[in-house]
Amino acid sequence: MEVNSRIKELREEIRKHDYRYYILDAPLISDAEYDRQMQELKKLEEEHPQFITPDSPTQRVAGTAVEKFSPTRHRFPLLSLDNAFSYQHLMEFHRRLGRVARKLSYMAELKIDGVSIALVYENGVLLNAATRGDGLVGEDVTANIRTIKAIPLRLRDPLPRLEVRGEIFMPKQEFLRLNEEKEEKGERVFANPRNAAAGSLRQLDPRVTASRALSAFIYDIIYVEANPLVEQEEALRFLQEQGLPVNPEARFCADIEAVLAYSEEYAEKRHELPYEIDGVVVKLNTFAEREELGSTARSPRWAMAYKFPAEEKETRLLGVEINVGRTGIIAPTALLEPVLLAGTTVSRASMHNFDLLREKDLRIGDMVLIHKAGDIIPEIISSLPERRRGEERTIMPPENCPACDSKVVRFAGEVAYRCENINCPARLKESLIFFASRGAMDIDGLGPAVIEQLVNREMVKGIDDLYRLSEQDISLLERMGPKSAANLIKAITESKSRPLSRLLTALGIRHIGAKSAKILSRHFHDIDDFYKVGVEKLTSIPEIGSKMAESVINFFAEPRNRETIENLKALGVNTREAVYEAGEQLLQGKTFVLTGTLPGLTRQQASEMIESRGGKVSSSVSKKTSYVVAGDDPGSKLDKALQLGLTILDEEGFLNLPGLS
Ligand code: IVH
Repeated sequence: MEVNSRIKELREEIRKHDYRYYILDAPLISDAEYDRQMQELKKLEEEHPQFITPDSPTQRVAGTAVEKFSPTRHRFPLLSLDNAFSYQHLMEFHRRLGRVARKLSYMAELKIDGVSIALVYENGVLLNAATRGDGLVGEDVTANIRTIKAIPLRLRDPLPRLEVRGEIFMPKQEFLRLNEEKEEKGERVFANPRNAAAGSLRQLDPRVTASRALSAFIYDIIYVEANPLVEQEEALRFLQEQGLPVNPEARFCADIEAVLAYSEEYAEKRHELPYEIDGVVVKLNTFAEREELGSTARSPRWAMAYKFPAEEKETRLLGVEINVGRTGIIAPTALLEPVLLAGTTVSRASMHNFDLLREKDLRIGDMVLIHKAGDIIPEIISSLPERRRGEERTIMPPENCPACDSKVVRFAGEVAYRCENINCPARLKESLIFFASRGAMDIDGLGPAVIEQLVNREMVKGIDDLYRLSEQDISLLERMGPKSAANLIKAITESKSRPLSRLLTALGIRHIGAKSAKILSRHFHDIDDFYKVGVEKLTSIPEIGSKMAESVINFFAEPRNRETIENLKALGVNTREAVYEAGEQLLQGKTFVLTGTLPGLTRQQASEMIESRGGKVSSSVSKKTSYVVAGDDPGSKLDKALQLGLTILDEEGFLNLPGLS
């Protein structure tokens, strides 16, 4: 088949599957099969870039960051809606409309709690996306919108021009995931999915938007050329037929009673929906009747938002429990007098961090107002200070970890307090899982299930205990035969001789991943060197920033960590860098030439690394040279290497050589 036909065929297929997956939530093929099609398309487009079009599914990949969003004037103002807060208000609205027709029918739709957006399609291709802004001028967020999979880059038909309006939202589940991630990073959490959606959409770097699973519903046609549509029900069907995401809960209501029933129904069902809604939008169905009523400067006369009553309750804050999370974050949890809220009895509320607690001036004994963030997580909105009786007590962050008594630390610029003790009982399982993992000490056979048992049976109370285990101990565990016990002990013993960089990684020091651990261990050859190092020395290493330095210092300042390290040493765990297992002379017989300045290594260090692994460093390039390692401002050696067609590596390529990683 001709390449371009295959490309087109693949795009059609992928679009269909995106629709099934992201909009209908009913995929037809496996993820693997989808990936295969996407890979084939990517490959063909790479080989034939002349066939790439902006509406290809490969072109959703996030582009580069912008400095600010450019303002966009909407061709038609994006109006707002009037609010009704009771059924009585809704009935008044209905009676007002009575003057246009005797019998009025409506479309009742969910009021999605997200960010209003206008999309322009030209010849069926997404051209432009803008936020509502003040209704007249919004911000151009096209690059970000393109990353949202529910929004098609191309319509089913090549309509000359279609302008639509809809809502970008963050599903509840994604909101919870994102907040958990933020908490783990010590960042501030989003108050609700709407803020999270707005924050994610207003990212100058589209890659950030792409990393958040935003979704969308389209509910209004602003403009379509030669408009044949006469009513909203038909318009929604038309939008759907064009492949746009339309909310499936919208319902035709033959009279206002049906609208009230719909509202009643969704006031209950809202908690079961995967996204947040804050009410119901009632729209006159027939466009001709809408025309007759017209709009005010602010809002159409033919539509009304019925807002659900806020799901908030008052209750008493009885106390605060301080918990250590599995990654060492110390967070307060409010203990509340139980109340019924949005379908469940609530007796605890997340307080996220101590800053929020202080900002809200919450005191034990206070009456507080609570709600559910993302419709799920109970949270305190505010205290009710006017109800104080004078016996209330303020809450202070703890100085010591409630689980292990280590000194609590707080990193600059973060809201979280943390326990830095790697062996803290609250953190231990996570510490062990990470310690044993592939990129760390790489202990084969020591996975989460085994760790779970070792910790629960109190056979391991700290990572150093791993090296105290015997075959006999291990064979006591479930699903552990003598053979696997022997293998596990062998793997644990082998891990003792890993180089310092691996051990540093395995200790799980915040901000210190495999790469920075490698850099650190190149500068400090022995773990003892970290006990007395200062910020300045650490930050004088080009790749080590102040956050990393602070973290290293905090880690080694914790006496319990020093004790653990001393124990590891006593048990025979290597704590130096230049240790290679016997026979690990992987660069034997290889000749290297170094030229130019490497960003992270001195020539001396690079040479040592090569020679300690059996390689040779030569000063001149010849046919026999195995690798030329080139940094900035390379000399004529590089030219010569190019002429000879030799393998040229940059620093990263060099460090990734099998013998060096
Ligand atoms: S119709 C001219 N339909 O609610 C009518 N709006 O409070 C345009 N919203 O700014 C709006 N779900 O962002 C409409 N099904 C829905 C909606 C909806 C959410 C938002 C929209 C609007 C706000 C008004």
